[in-house]
Amino acid sequence: MSRRDAAARPIIEPFRIKTVEPIRITTPAERLARLRDVGYNVFLLRSEDVLIDLLTDSGTSAMSAEQWAAVMRGDEAYAGSASYYRFRDVVRRIFGFEHILPTHQGRAAERILFSTVCRPGDVVPNNTHFDTTRANVEATGARAVDLPAPQARRPEEPHPFKGNLDTAALEALIEAEGPARIPLCMLTVTNNAGGGQPVSMANIRETAEICRRHGIPLYLDACRFAENAYFIKRREPGYADASVEEIAREMFSYADGCTMSGKKDALVNIGGFLAGNDPRLAAQERDLLILTEGFPTYGGLAGRDLDAMAVGLVEVLQEEYLEYRIASVRYLGEHMAAAGVPIMQPPGGHAVYIDAAAFLPHVPPAKLPGQAIVAELFVEGGIRAVEVGTTMFGGPDPETGEERTAPLELVRLALPRRVYTQSHVDYVVHVVRAVWERRDAIGGFRIVEQAPTLRHFTARFEPLYDVGGAARETERRGA
Ligand SMILES: Cc1ncc(COP(=O)(O)O)c(C=O)c1O
Repeated sequence: MSRRDAAARPIIEPFRIKTVEPIRITTPAERLARLRDVGYNVFLLRSEDVLIDLLTDSGTSAMSAEQWAAVMRGDEAYAGSASYYRFRDVVRRIFGFEHILPTHQGRAAERILFSTVCRPGDVVPNNTHFDTTRANVEATGARAVDLPAPQARRPEEPHPFKGNLDTAALEALIEAEGPARIPLCMLTVTNNAGGGQPVSMANIRETAEICRRHGIPLYLDACRFAENAYFIKRREPGYADASVEEIAREMFSYADGCTMSGKKDALVNIGGFLAGNDPRLAAQERDLLILTEGFPTYGGLAGRDLDAMAVGLVEVLQEEYLEYRIASVRYLGEHMAAAGVPIMQPPGGHAVYIDAAAFLPHVPPAKLPGQAIVAELFVEGGIRAVEVGTTMFGGPDPETGEERTAPLELVRLALPRRVYTQSHVDYVVHVVRAVWERRDAIGGFRIVEQAPTLRHFTARFEPLYDVGGAARETERRGA
């Protein structure tokens, strides 16, 4: 993805393309009509109306020939499927946990874990909870507390491990709440809501040490564990010669368990798991799994899905894949930044995050600047991105009912794994630049309909300005 990294060896996509899917080319006027139809919420668009879909890297990977071959080997037995044992053995080897429960995706693992260990009034710290994680904690009556390191609050300031947890703040929280009210602490690797930024091994180790001292179990939200491990290899002293798999094993050795959405770093379209070492807790979780997901050797998945995950978890640790993956995201981020677009620095592992507050300083957080950029990217070029700001994390406080705004207003452009080529990325840069150049004509949005939780998925919006006006004017003039 770095034909233009001139003198350096070009980093190529380490795969050939065997199957292709057409992209339907649309016009700004058509796209505006589609956006209006869905109340300006890009989650409600049909994917066939999207040109480049950067809504998420979750479940959108292209599977390899080996994974499709594994699909054919899937054993669909209700109980004791061979697929489960192949999957379990790979997970045990990389993650090192004894008890492994497959789930249909990451949030099912979260729901089972939190509803087993959290009670109303409890507190769960995390470097930054992702939306489903926060919602699943809050659904048990517990409080989700984000403790990002201070550098995470400064989007423009580069830092090698901006995903770290603020360990001094964790100590203070434990002191204030008492360890008995903290059933577990989580670390999200990489820190998705905090800009896809990695967590260092030193921070994982220190967090684990604090937790152990207070008898608090530490769990990793492991969705992007391979990308995090690769950043450790590249950026943390002492790890350059370790393999990514060795680094991953060390990361998990400090934890008591993990939740995993296989839709990210297991390179599959569906799947996840919950893992840990405590046999009593695992038995309780297993009973809940049977009640809500399925028998413990399939957990809401088909045998073929487990086989695809087993292969994907091995492929994702290949260094040439990770080198290409991280270079693709960096390429997108560096070219946007070179055009003057304010982004979270440095680019993350799976996505580039536009700093919407700096992009549209004249639109206050309550008027949802990120939502406006998302709308403009879609009308301008058919790019679907997602707001990670006040639409996603704001709304009425569950305790006080007061309207909250998010600490950061971001727009995430997430790259699906092994899906888009360099010319697609060049097109994205072109579209982002066009929106950036007419930023003064962009205004805000307001929410006219919303659900009580996870409102961003289904909310409807009303624009407070003429959406895509400049893009349509350019189109009208035939430019
Ligand atoms: C950090 C993080 N945790 C948990 C999840 C939830 O996983 P899933 O979508 O498979 O339920 C996601 C999904 O995007 C995520 O990014």
